[in-house]
Amino acid sequence: MLEGKKILLGITGSIAAYKSVHLVRLLVKAGAEVKVVMTPAAKDFVTPLTLSTLSRNPVLTDLFDGQSWANHVMIGRWADIMLIAPLSCNTLAKMAHGQCDNLLLATYLSATCPVVVAPAMDEDMWHHPSTVKNLQLIQSFGNTVIPVEKGELASGLFGDGRMAEPEQLVQYITDHFFSAKPLAGRKALVTAGPTYEAIDPVRFIGNHSSGKMGIAIAKELYRQGAEVTLVAGPLHTAFSANGIKLVNVTSASEMYAACEEVFNTADLAIMSAAVADYTPVAKAPEKIKKKEDTFHLELTKTKDILKSLGGRKKKSQVLVGFALETTDERNYALGKLEAKNADMIVLNSLNDAGAGFGYDTNKITIFQRDGKEIRFDTKSKEAVAKDIVDTIITSYYA
Ligand code: CTP
Repeated sequence: MLEGKKILLGITGSIAAYKSVHLVRLLVKAGAEVKVVMTPAAKDFVTPLTLSTLSRNPVLTDLFDGQSWANHVMIGRWADIMLIAPLSCNTLAKMAHGQCDNLLLATYLSATCPVVVAPAMDEDMWHHPSTVKNLQLIQSFGNTVIPVEKGELASGLFGDGRMAEPEQLVQYITDHFFSAKPLAGRKALVTAGPTYEAIDPVRFIGNHSSGKMGIAIAKELYRQGAEVTLVAGPLHTAFSANGIKLVNVTSASEMYAACEEVFNTADLAIMSAAVADYTPVAKAPEKIKKKEDTFHLELTKTKDILKSLGGRKKKSQVLVGFALETTDERNYALGKLEAKNADMIVLNSLNDAGAGFGYDTNKITIFQRDGKEIRFDTKSKEAVAKDIVDTIITSYYA
C-alpha cells in the first residue's frame, strides 16, 4: 500500500524518538520513500546516522548548513504526507502559534501535503489545558492527530501520553491516506449546529441544535476520502477536527458568507445546520433595559444559504439539504427539494421517536431529484451519516 509513497518523517525531542528508528524501518519495508527531518533536541535522543542509514536518505536538521540553505518549501512539496512522530509538547505549542525557529517547523509551515502528528508526553502535560488548546488549534488548521495511548511513561507513571506504536502509525496512515477512497480528490462543504442572532450584547435568538449530525457527516465524508470544510455555528458537542477544516461562525449571515466562499471550489455540500430563519433588524448597541410590560422585537428574514447555493450550483456540484418537520413531512420535504434546487433532501421528523435535536440517534428519509425515496430505520447519528454519504456515493460518484 505504501509502495512509492513519499513520507516525510518529522522527529522532535521526546524519549519516544527511540520508536522512530523502528518506524523508519517499517515504512521503508512497506515500500515508502522516507526522508527524515529532526529538531535539534531530537538529536539528543536518536542519531541522524542511524536514521539516514535506515531511511537511505540524508537526514535534514538545519535551516543553514555552512553556506547552503535547506529548501524547506521543496521538502514540504516533495512529500505525500508529513508525519511528525513523536510530537513533543514544545513543538506542538510552536505549531499551534506558527513559530518557525528550526527546519522541522519551517517545513511544517510550508507543507502542502496532509500533516499527521503522533504526540508523546507525560500524562500531566497531556492533560494540561494549554496542551488541550494547542491540539485543538492544530486540528482546526486541518492537521490530523493520532491519539496517545495509556501505558507506562518515561516518568515511571502509568497513564495517558504514550505515543502510538510504530505498527499502528503505519496502519493509520495507510488506512487514512493511501487506501482507495470513493471521495478522494473531492471537496465537501458541511454546515452544522445552530446560529445565534444577537439582540443586544448579551442576548441572542438561537435553537437547540447540537451540531452532532453535521459533525458525524463531516467525519464520514473525511473517512471516505473527501477534503472537508465544516462551517459550524456554536457547537454543543465535543469535536476534534482531526483532518477536517473547521470554520467557526456565530450568526446566519456569517454562515452565509463562509458557505458562499467555500462552495466556489466544493464538489458537494451538505447543509445540516439549523440556520435561524429570522434575525433582529438591528442589534441594540447596549444591553436592553427592562421597561415596558410588553416588548416587540422586529425580525427580518435571513438569507437562505441552501437556496442561494442551489441557485448558482453547477451541474457537477451535488447539493444536499435537510428538512426538519413536524407535520405533512413528505410534502414539505419535496417542496424544499424543488424550491431550493437541491439534489437530495434528508428529512427528519420530530414525530419520530429518537429523531431531532440533542438525540444521539436519528431517523431519516432521503428524497432525490429523480423521484427516489429511501427510508431508513432509527440509527445512531454516525450510522445515519454513513447512510447519507453512501447514498451520495452510489448516486453521484460510483
Ligand atoms: N437553510 C439554510 N439557510 C437558512 C435556512 C435553512 O441553508 N436561512 C437550510 C437548512 O440548513 C436545511 C434546509 O435549509 O438544509 C431546510 O431547513 P428548514 O429549517 O427545515 O427549512 P426552512 O427552509 O427554514 O423552512 P421552514 O422553517 O419554513 O420549514
